[in-house]
Amino acid sequence: MGYIYFPQFKRGRKGIKIHPGLTILEHIRKANIEIDAECGGIGKCGKCVVRIEKGQENLNPPTILEKNFPLTEKERLACQARVIKDKEDIIVYIKSFGKYEILKYGLEREIPLSPVFQREGGKVVKDGEEIDDYRGKIYGLAIDVGTTTVVFDLVDLEKGDVLATVAKTNPQISYGNDVISRIEYILVDKENHRYLNEEEKKLRIRQLQKVVIDMINTSLNEISERMGEDISQYIYDVVVVGNPTMRNLFFGIDVSSLGIIPFEPIHKESIIRKPEEIGLKINKKGQIYGVSLIGGHA
Ligand code: FES
Repeated sequence: MGYIYFPQFKRGRKGIKIHPGLTILEHIRKANIEIDAECGGIGKCGKCVVRIEKGQENLNPPTILEKNFPLTEKERLACQARVIKDKEDIIVYIKSFGKYEILKYGLEREIPLSPVFQREGGKVVKDGEEIDDYRGKIYGLAIDVGTTTVVFDLVDLEKGDVLATVAKTNPQISYGNDVISRIEYILVDKENHRYLNEEEKKLRIRQLQKVVIDMINTSLNEISERMGEDISQYIYDVVVVGNPTMRNLFFGIDVSSLGIIPFEPIHKESIIRKPEEIGLKINKKGQIYGVSLIGGHA
């Protein structure tokens, strides 16, 4: 028996049992999740669009009514997508009012706590080596740099608790809505119809990197104010994920190759940087780790 999950919503993260024969819309209603279904589920309004992230094979093929709407490969109308098999789980994202909600939470699973930075007596150690005095807390950041949204968790690395979650619009959006327009920004001087030279490119890469780092630093200050103490001193470990353009811009790496055939990043391997190298205001003894990439635009 499979389950259907709606990870954008607290109520949907545990999942509900699949009921073969019911539509996705009926499952959404069973889970008490709100969705815009203006026509009441007769396939006329096109408002109940969902993205099927996993389990498309459990559904009926798209209906004639769905062909009236510009749906992408993974999208269906919730009122037309009927579950015909219950063997495998289905993961569904709801597109409401023309805009996906910012995803702050994912499917959670139990992971043994094994941080790189740990306490040993009165010291903070990394790989068995003392790096700092223990000040009562060891925190980490888990950052997802999305093209549209930057989301990060502040995590207590001793207890595994998530202390705060921040989700803000990626400020690079004012330089272009998508990755291609941001790559174009670092390649081309549009006003003067010319390609930028290497120095000019570096400045623009730094500019795009800085707006994101500044936004995270500002958010950390806001959390410090709320908590009544400077939390940056406790943050030792930062893990960053993102698509190749977002991840490499975060680390100030040239992404122009991603705009040119064969669209491959110049740096795919994992990255470790010191805080001062990218300007992130965390403990100076800490590190920033960028997870490796699997390919261009992936
Ligand atoms: S509820 Fe209107 S098309 Fe599905």
